[in-house]
Amino acid sequence: RSKVSIKTIQSMYRKKEAISMMTAQDYPSGLVVDQSGIDMCLVGDSLAMVSLGFDSTNPLTVEDMLHHCRAVARGAKAPFIVADLPYGSYEASPDDAVRVSLRFMKEGNCDAVKLEGGVEMAETIHRITRVGIPVLAHIGLTPQRQSALGGFRVQGKTAKQASALLKDAFAVQEAGAFGVVVEAIPAEIAGYITQQLKIPTIGIGAGVHCSGQVLVQNDALGLFDKFVPKFTKQYCNLNQIITSALREYHEDVKTGRFPAPQNTYPIDPVQLEKFFA
Ligand code: KIV
Ligand code: NA
Repeated sequence: RSKVSIKTIQSMYRKKEAISMMTAQDYPSGLVVDQSGIDMCLVGDSLAMVSLGFDSTNPLTVEDMLHHCRAVARGAKAPFIVADLPYGSYEASPDDAVRVSLRFMKEGNCDAVKLEGGVEMAETIHRITRVGIPVLAHIGLTPQRQSALGGFRVQGKTAKQASALLKDAFAVQEAGAFGVVVEAIPAEIAGYITQQLKIPTIGIGAGVHCSGQVLVQNDALGLFDKFVPKFTKQYCNLNQIITSALREYHEDVKTGRFPAPQNTYPIDPVQLEKFFA
């Protein structure tokens, strides 16, 4: 299939075709995003939790993320690839943000970067887009700020919070973001924001009225053991499937059922006779 570009995304948005996005963190998870026809692939910093076992996304380094991005890019050839800027790599100044974004484009082989924040990140978004790097914004529940938010909780539940979210959405649009992820907010608020904006909203836990949806692949496939957020749809339970396969392998080894003759290399009997002679 042909490469999804920013133009493809914009054309889907204009036609009101829902945009599908899924995370990936390595070559095989990138490959299946490609093979399943999904439009956009997010190398999300959630990989700190679902792939690396950290309790939050905050410990992830730029080098870690670049390593994962390159692997995803080798598998996800067609999808439009967006990489999360790691916590601590872009907040201190727009200059930092431009520099680290350029590294993701150059060394990470992605097509765009994503960062968390609304009004307060507008200047930064503006600066990154000015050097020709597409930016996906991320508002609502911003996991990198879980300490200030008091955990992973739903946002925009009061009229005041919802108004602040709308301001954030307008600010990132004005700053040049090509889209905005809206995470864990009431569907009505996400719907209203979507209706007000001229750029696509990509929802996660934000209802059906967004311009697109994103899920964390490990959550969707049942590969994360810690917790299942309310907004996740688990499409299968890979953990169960894999565990039972590996249990079978373990038993096969113990009982000598594996390797079978068909898993074994033969040798010419003449050579064998010579060898033992
Ligand atoms: O890191 C991630 O996977 C994300 C999505 C949940 C939007 O930011
Ligand atoms: Na993220």
